[in-house]
Amino acid sequence: MTERGLDGKVIFITGGARGQGATEARLCHSLGAKVVITDVLVEQGQAVADEVDGLFVRHDVTSPEQWSDAVDAALDRFGRIDGLVNNAGVFFIKPMMDTTLDEYRNLTEINQTGVFLGMQAVGRVMLEQGSGSMVNISSIAGLGGAGGFAFAYTASKWAVRGMSKSAAIEFGPHGVRVNSVHPGIIETPMLEQFTALGDSWHQTLRDAIPMGRTAQASEVAELVVFLLSDLSSYCSGHEFVVDGARNA
Ligand SMILES: NC(=O)c1ccc[n+]([C@@H]2O[C@H](COP(=O)([O-])OP(=O)(O)OC[C@H]3O[C@@H](n4cnc5c(N)ncnc54)[C@H](O)[C@@H]3O)[C@@H](O)[C@H]2O)c1
Repeated sequence: MTERGLDGKVIFITGGARGQGATEARLCHSLGAKVVITDVLVEQGQAVADEVDGLFVRHDVTSPEQWSDAVDAALDRFGRIDGLVNNAGVFFIKPMMDTTLDEYRNLTEINQTGVFLGMQAVGRVMLEQGSGSMVNISSIAGLGGAGGFAFAYTASKWAVRGMSKSAAIEFGPHGVRVNSVHPGIIETPMLEQFTALGDSWHQTLRDAIPMGRTAQASEVAELVVFLLSDLSSYCSGHEFVVDGARNA
């Protein structure tokens, strides 16, 4: 029987210093994986890496050079990369008509170009190995329009969804799987953006979720680990939603 575990697999997680990425790093480690964590937050990233006996690399996902260095560092330490979680991301609340070109470009560089660069950099390694699983973190904002309030973010998360499908088709013949994960409202530091909406923002978010609650990062991590593991060996090119029926 195929194991849920990640025994011996090397998993590379961007944006792993906090939030969902850090939670995924801890779960991967507990299931036997060797973990590489990258982030622009050095102290927090190093602390998580120490906790999981992994490798931390300071790495801005918008830089192709830093992708190359981070992949080299992972290969130097562990010799292979079995899983990639393109998790790093940023979010801001603005409708289209208030969004400046700089704001749009900056967010797109991180949320969209960062995923493209990551799939290319780690794709080279996985294609040579003839195996691997990539999990690209999109959002429920990549499944519909986000109520007109997070225009640039919504565009970037649709791009992640589309890139994942195309990459899955390109990589399929070579044993490399690619899927996108679409979280709903998850309790991480990213939600601090909503405080601008006033004191009742948390209740407003919860009211829109049929299950009546936001999610913990661990509830996304379980899905990500499934996609990284051999249990999902025939899953590729698809969207996996974890949203308490928010987008049902
Ligand atoms: N929290 C939610 O409700 C929610 C919902 C749907 C999707 N997501 C997505 O989940 C992913 C993880 O977010 P989170 O909720 O853990 O938020 P978070 O803000 O806690 O974590 C995001 C991490 O990405 C890192 N990061 C940002 N820019 C970077 C860059 N240029 N290079 C490298 N790292 C960078 C940050 O330093 C941070 O550690 C993101 O892609 C986010 O868009 C979050």
